[in-house]
Amino acid sequence: MPAEKEPVGVIGVGWVGLVTAACFAELGHEIVARDILPEKVESLSRGEVPIYEPGLPELVEKNRERITFTTDMAEVLDRTRLLFCCVDTPPTYSGDADLSRVETVVDEIGDSTEHAIVMKSTVPVGTGRSINRRRPGIGYASNPEFLKEGSAVADFMKPDRVVIGAEQSSAAFAERVAALYEPLDGPIVHTDVASAEMVKLASNAFLATKISFINEIANVCEQVGADVTEVARGMGLDERIGPQFLRAGIGWGGSCFPKDTLALKQLAGNSGYHFQLLSAVIEVNELQKRRVVSKLQKHLGSLVGKEIALLGIAFKPNTDDIREATSLVLAARLHGEGANVRAYDPVASAHAAEHLPGTTICDSAMEAVAGADGVVIVTEWPEFRELDWSAVKDSLSTPLVVDGRNFLDRDAVAAAGLTYEGVGRS
Ligand code: UDX
Repeated sequence: MPAEKEPVGVIGVGWVGLVTAACFAELGHEIVARDILPEKVESLSRGEVPIYEPGLPELVEKNRERITFTTDMAEVLDRTRLLFCCVDTPPTYSGDADLSRVETVVDEIGDSTEHAIVMKSTVPVGTGRSINRRRPGIGYASNPEFLKEGSAVADFMKPDRVVIGAEQSSAAFAERVAALYEPLDGPIVHTDVASAEMVKLASNAFLATKISFINEIANVCEQVGADVTEVARGMGLDERIGPQFLRAGIGWGGSCFPKDTLALKQLAGNSGYHFQLLSAVIEVNELQKRRVVSKLQKHLGSLVGKEIALLGIAFKPNTDDIREATSLVLAARLHGEGANVRAYDPVASAHAAEHLPGTTICDSAMEAVAGADGVVIVTEWPEFRELDWSAVKDSLSTPLVVDGRNFLDRDAVAAAGLTYEGVGRS
C-alpha cells in the first residue's frame, strides 16, 4: 500500500499560496489553506480563482475535493503539521521588508512543538534565525519560491531546483519537506536557513543585474550603431552566460524584482555593507523606463498635447499584474511632458484605471492607436505582433512605433510605412 501523503497547511492564499496549494493537491496531498479575508475564502471555496495565472483555475477545479479553504487558523493547526507560510512581505517606506504578517503567523502557531513553518514568503536573511530564537519549539525551514508569473504552475511542477534551509534542530521537518517535492524530480539543495534565504534574494538580484546589464549594452549599441539583439544572441551562446534574461527593453518590473533588489540593498546596508553594484542595477532600471520619452521627443519634438498610445500595461505578458509595471512610470512621465496617454492591455485593462490616473483605458489596440502621434509597445503580448500594421499606419496621426521590447517584426512594421524605433537597435 502506498504511504499516506502528508497533509499540507498553506497560510496566505495569494498568488504563491494558491499555486502552492493547488500543486501540492495535484501531487495527492490534502490541503488546508487559510486566508484572513472571508470574501476570498468564500469565492475560492466556490472554485473562483481571483488571479490570472494560466492553468491555475483548472488545477484548483480538478483538486477541489482535496483543498479546504478556511479563515480558521485552528483548523490548519489541527489538521496539518507542515505550514507553508505564503503571506506577503511588501516593502516599507525605507525599502526594508514588512514582516508584520509573518510575525502574526508565528504568533498564531505559538509554542507548538508539533508544527513547522516552511517559509515561502521572501524574507530578509536572518528572519528564520530570529524566529527560531523567539520560538524554539516550532520547527522552521526556509523554502523560497522561484515561480514566474504566467508560468507558475509549470515552474512548480518542474523546478530547476528546490532549496530547503534548516538548522539541525529542524532536520527531521526539513526531510519531510523534501519528501513533498520528491515526485517532482528537481534537484533538492539542503542548506542552513540564512543561506536559503540568501539564495532567493541573490537569484533575483542576479537576474535583475543581467537585464540591467543588457539594457546598458543596448544603450551603448544605440550610440555606436550595433544591434543588441544580435549582441545578446552572440553572448548567450556562451554556456557560461546563457541566453536567458538577455532581452533588452524598457526595464524590469513586477512584484518580485523591484522589491527583492531593494530588500537586498537594504539588508546589505543595514549590515554595514554598501552594495554598490546592486544600487547601480536599480538606478539603471529607473532610467531605462524613462528613455522611451526621449525617443518619442526625438521624433515628435515637444510632447505637449501629443496623443501617445501605450500597448501593454501588465509588467510582462501572461499576467494581469501591474505592480511596478513600466507602464505606470511611463504614463506618469508622459503626463509630466504634457502628453495625453491612452493605454490598452489584453488582460490588465480591467483593473488598471485606478493606477493610471489621467490615462484613457481603451478596449482594443486599434482604439488606442486611433489618431495617436506615437505608439509604444510596453508589454510583449503576442496579439501586438499580429496587428495589421498598414491599418495602424492609416489610423495614426504620426506613423511612429517605439518598440520597448524589441518584439515586433521590424521589417514588417517598416514595410507598412511606419518609423520603427527599438531598444539598442539603431
Ligand atoms: C521573478 C523571478 O523570475 C522568479 O524566479 C521569482 O520567484 C519572482 O520574480 P516574475 O516577477 O514573474 O519572476 O517575472 P520574470 O519573468 O522573471 O520577469 C521580471 C521582469 O524582467 C519583467 O518585467 C520582464 O519584462 C523583465 N525581463 C525579463 C526583461 O526585461 N528582460 C528579460 O530578458 C527577462
